[in-house]
Amino acid sequence: MPAPSSNADSALLRLKASDGFVAPAASVDALPGPRPLPVLGSAHRLKPGSTHATLENWIREYGPMYRFYAGSRPLVVISDPVLTGEILRHRPGQFARGARLTQAIDEIGLGGVFSAEGERWRRQRRLVMRALTPEAVRNFFPIIRSVTERLQARWHEAARSGQVIDMLRDLKRYSIDVTTWLSMGVDVDTLTNDDNPLQEDVEFMFETLGRRLFKPVRYWRWVKLPADRRADMVGKRLAKTVDDLIGKARERMQADPTLRDKPTNILEALLVARDEPGSEFTDDDVRGNVATMLFAGEDTAANAMAWLLLILSLAPNEAAQVTAEADRALGDEAVLSDFSALDGLHYLEAAAFESMRLKPIAPQLGATALVDCDLAGLRVNKGQVILMMSRLGGLDEHTFADAEEFRPERWLGEHAESADDTKRRIFPFGGGPRYCPGRYLAMVEIKMVAAMAMHGFEITPDASPDTIGEHFTFTMGPSKLPMRLRERSKR
Ligand code: HEM
Repeated sequence: MPAPSSNADSALLRLKASDGFVAPAASVDALPGPRPLPVLGSAHRLKPGSTHATLENWIREYGPMYRFYAGSRPLVVISDPVLTGEILRHRPGQFARGARLTQAIDEIGLGGVFSAEGERWRRQRRLVMRALTPEAVRNFFPIIRSVTERLQARWHEAARSGQVIDMLRDLKRYSIDVTTWLSMGVDVDTLTNDDNPLQEDVEFMFETLGRRLFKPVRYWRWVKLPADRRADMVGKRLAKTVDDLIGKARERMQADPTLRDKPTNILEALLVARDEPGSEFTDDDVRGNVATMLFAGEDTAANAMAWLLLILSLAPNEAAQVTAEADRALGDEAVLSDFSALDGLHYLEAAAFESMRLKPIAPQLGATALVDCDLAGLRVNKGQVILMMSRLGGLDEHTFADAEEFRPERWLGEHAESADDTKRRIFPFGGGPRYCPGRYLAMVEIKMVAAMAMHGFEITPDASPDTIGEHFTFTMGPSKLPMRLRERSKR
């Protein structure tokens, strides 16, 4: 006879998983998982750059719910998409972001909406959402177009001279230029100024985050290795860049006080909130959120575009359809000038979702339980860290036939999977109340760049595709992307 449940058990937050999924054990310690070493646990097996691949492989080995030890702490890893969706939906009340990640982010001076929790998160989120509405992005369109023209000119030059480009680096510069201009009103133009260190600095801080995430001991608080000393130096340079951007915004607002009533970007809105009498925003909030926008908007969009262009360069039939659609939308133009034409790029949008299904920039999402809960039969206590391997639901053969294949058609037509469906199996932009607020902007960037690229150039990798791997720091991108461009001879 089953034991009657106690009062404590009936107060548990109970989360469901996919039909038929039951936790393989009732307690975290009893879950299957890799055998830990004393002190280190299994953290030594997670190599910087490929932690996600190891964690995914362990799902294949131990099943869709296992535990591994980072030092002496057990972490729970899951891949069930329904359970993942449930956890994401229960934020910020019952789950916080992964504690390790947010500590590491705060430690390198990037604390903002991404790492904030509770009421502080709510306030910051409202501001950020206001600045990234479709309406706001539409108003920014001339800026996005102008940066896309810059990228086109750079690639046109490379095609003319037959030079191999580092496409990943170009896309990172593109997205940092767009994000800085949009969220701070400043054109840093890293695409033209090769010696501007901003993009490399942001990149290095991502590497630092990735390197520190699963270290069993936070040694850098006491002992600095060369990489940690460099991180301190880059952190100071980034802080100075951000302070300069804040200074410039303050000057603009002093010269034109109407900007206080109608801020034109996130930074101005943050400064207005900061300066309100009795404001709960601090200078650090402003600084942290400015840095957060740089980080959240750079690598993410760039890696998503990089994967899409790489996959299209290896898929001639699908590439031909994207190109035909882009040719119709752009006509004689090199870069799309009509914002509303973006809505008609259905096949390109489907290709982008399909590429994010196969190569999501966030293949793992972390959460910390703020209450005791029951995850489909597994009892976890408050404080438990859970890692959600969000790509694997999208590779499930029961949901996606021939799941390893790139088929944009899956996202088209009346029976198409919808990325917004609550029963969806993929989480390219996360889910629940903390889903990515930059999603609309990101899709505009992706469509602008991919349409320009496919309309203007034939793109081929300058390396064997087998040598281009996945590299995961804070987001997952291709390990490298040397590309050759040839001007298309259609016009
Ligand atoms: C293709 C490009 C992008 C992808 C795939 C992406 C993906 C994501 C994901 C997976 C999350 C975590 C969501 C969650 O926890 O549920 C996130 C959060 C976030 N993203 Fe994006 N993102 C992209 C572009 C951008 C851009 C362009 C911006 C802004 C300029 C941005 C700003 C943010 C912010 C501020 C958060 C934190 C939200 C919060 O905690 O409330 N993202 N993004």
